[in-house]
Amino acid sequence: MGAIEQFHTAPGTLDLGWGHPHPDALPLDAWADATADALRRHGASALDYGRAVGPEPLIDWIGGRSDEVFVTAGASHALELIASVFGRGGPALVDTPTYHYALRTLADHGLRLIAAPAHDPAAMLELIRRHRPTLLYLVPTFGNPTGTSLPGPQRIALIEAARRGGVTIVEDDTYRDLSYDGVPAPPSLYSLDASDVVIRISSLAKTVAPGLRLGWITASPDRITALTRRGYVDSGGGVNHTTALAMASFATSGGYSTHLDSLRARYAGQRDALAAALRLHLPTASFDVPEGGWFLWVRLPGADELTKPATAHGVAFLPGDTFFLDRKPDRPIRLSFSRYGPEDLAEAARRLASAHRAMPRGR
Ligand SMILES: Cc1ncc(COP(=O)(O)O)c(C=O)c1O
Repeated sequence: MGAIEQFHTAPGTLDLGWGHPHPDALPLDAWADATADALRRHGASALDYGRAVGPEPLIDWIGGRSDEVFVTAGASHALELIASVFGRGGPALVDTPTYHYALRTLADHGLRLIAAPAHDPAAMLELIRRHRPTLLYLVPTFGNPTGTSLPGPQRIALIEAARRGGVTIVEDDTYRDLSYDGVPAPPSLYSLDASDVVIRISSLAKTVAPGLRLGWITASPDRITALTRRGYVDSGGGVNHTTALAMASFATSGGYSTHLDSLRARYAGQRDALAAALRLHLPTASFDVPEGGWFLWVRLPGADELTKPATAHGVAFLPGDTFFLDRKPDRPIRLSFSRYGPEDLAEAARRLASAHRAMPRGR
């Protein structure tokens, strides 16, 4: 077999750097059934070119107004499109720390990036007035890398600041469904927005499978039209027709909701295992336990020097600078608990603690 995956971890290494699903969390059999069901149900139309905005059965399941949805090839593709249609040369504000590949995607469009704090609407408004940005990107719910969510009152204030400053908010809602402990995710910025400043992007990469390359954009009908009336969308007949139909079968059969229940239990357990092992083995680490998502954002004395010894001890993570526009000492590190079960996560914490002990003294 030839190589087909994005990356391979060095043998023997527990790599908490990548936000990838646990292999056992991927619904192999259920997805095979959903694909077969879609092909049976829709016949040749399932393999034909599709509608520009995506197939109705999936859009119906997504809910809300059907003219406010565009099915995309994942959240990354959604952001790429939004930057190309609404970026208009920028600049773009980004609520750092934030998803590092989003920083790259926006920069690919030549947009100058400016760090802006979403939790401080007054500062945000000041930055909007000063820089006249076209876009403001953030992950307000179970964010990457921090796992935290923007509180309700700040959501409303942020939308108001964007409205007053005439900037489009790009709400990356990728982790919404991964809420734990029965605590529901806060309302989306999109659902709170009455003034058409928010475009929301969603993904099935974390809750079903990254390889599907499936997600969607929710926005006002005018914005959806601007995004979809494009040569390449019409030429391709939508962007992911057959996979979208299989997803519709998976969802409407009840398979998705059963799968999501098991994912929530799995990832909450993995989160708790990593948190407990860190408390036990690395008592100088401090972190909040997130109510959703895939990450612990961990403050640790000496973290800046930890990468090399960690590699030598067979464990990896992402340094905090990855998620900012600048470099600064003593930033937290991101540990992803998504990819490994409780025992491996406990072992990863033990290795991290050994690596930390092995660092040069004097810290
Ligand atoms: C915040 C955020 N947005 C988008 C993505 C990528 O989503 P997709 O695979 O649907 O492109 C990720 C994956 O790590 C993410 O963390």
